[in-house]
Amino acid sequence: MKKEAHVLDLFSGPGGLSEGFNTAKIGNHTFRSVVANDNDVHASVTYRKNHPGVEFVLGDISASEIKRKIVRAIKAETGMNTVDVIIGGPPCKGFSLTNKMTRNMKNPMNRLVMDYVAMIRKLKPKAFVMENVPGIFAMEGGKIVKDLISEFRSMGYYNTDSWLLNAADYGVPQIRKRAFIVGSRSRIPIEKPRTTHGSNGQAPRVSVFDAISDLPKIPDGSSSSRAAYKKPPNKFQRQLRNGQRKPTQHVTTKNSDLVLKRIRKVPSGGNWKDIPRELMQVNGDYEKIQKAHSMIYRRLIKTEPSVTITNFRKGMIIHPTEHRLFSVREAARIQTFPDSYKFEGGLSSMQQQVSDAVPVFLAKKVAEAILAHLEMDHKL
Ligand SMILES: C[S@@+](CC[C@H](N)C(=O)[O-])C[C@H]1O[C@@H](n2cnc3c(N)ncnc32)[C@H](O)[C@@H]1O
Repeated sequence: MKKEAHVLDLFSGPGGLSEGFNTAKIGNHTFRSVVANDNDVHASVTYRKNHPGVEFVLGDISASEIKRKIVRAIKAETGMNTVDVIIGGPPCKGFSLTNKMTRNMKNPMNRLVMDYVAMIRKLKPKAFVMENVPGIFAMEGGKIVKDLISEFRSMGYYNTDSWLLNAADYGVPQIRKRAFIVGSRSRIPIEKPRTTHGSNGQAPRVSVFDAISDLPKIPDGSSSSRAAYKKPPNKFQRQLRNGQRKPTQHVTTKNSDLVLKRIRKVPSGGNWKDIPRELMQVNGDYEKIQKAHSMIYRRLIKTEPSVTITNFRKGMIIHPTEHRLFSVREAARIQTFPDSYKFEGGLSSMQQQVSDAVPVFLAKKVAEAILAHLEMDHKL
């Protein structure tokens, strides 16, 4: 096996998966993302800035022209007609358990999974990783994942498996369960990454404050982050500071006085149910909030891992001790992006990008499993 395995990152978003793959190392074997694709312009700018050596193809992967552009970009970058590994997280809107009405393959968002499959069929990489929300396992009583696995096997990926991984078990300060379908054309199994945190004899799970307590206090609606880090950092914080001298993008949404009053009422671990009804009824809001899911106005517990970071403005994820929503940098810490990783676009786009990503530490563990597999395959 060559020392540097080439990677194509589809549905790359801001590049969480790529960041994990590009920082993984087994012996002297590493990965290098060579081409990435997404149709979101802000995510494309974020990706390009943080991965300057990667050729980015901006556009809708459903279009044949974009698929052809990706193939041409691989040839131009590597001189070859394929890559070693394809990674990607086709959007999960239809699969999400929070969206029961649309959970089937007729949903156009689910058809993007088939575009991902089409790229595997076309490029025949040695291995692939498809990430998705856990809801994919429940679709049509498990039939969708079963069918996907048989489809991959019929394409020569004899070794296709599915894993349900919880990021918190791998040193990520967040309970975030994700589905991974991994496949290889070799007959040697890909070993599921061994957990490192939370079980007997392992390191304790990383808490929200382990991850963010060195970030300075900021007011609601802060639009710039001039304040320095609070010192000294713990091991996790030192690793994520990654040589930065002060935090960047420690910025939050500005809320109305009414929303701030509500936020003040939510205790650690509480949610909208802790807000007095009279504060929720203004503008006829109460009914709507009752129907929404319980993440709304969720205050994190500082000594525990975070709940899953979905869009933290829309989900109203509240800082454990300050009366404001999470900042972009705090969410990025929870997603294990280094502080040197900068997000582009407006506040709302940055919030979306951060919460869409695969946590970098989890991506790295998956990458190491694939790298170990490729290395082992080569030895046989
Ligand atoms: C869950 S996010 C991927 C996150 C990424 N794997 C990471 O770790 O950062 C899904 C991405 O798919 C992109 N996307 C949605 N529809 C697309 C399409 N038709 N063509 C290309 N990209 C698309 C979205 O813009 C979004 O960035």
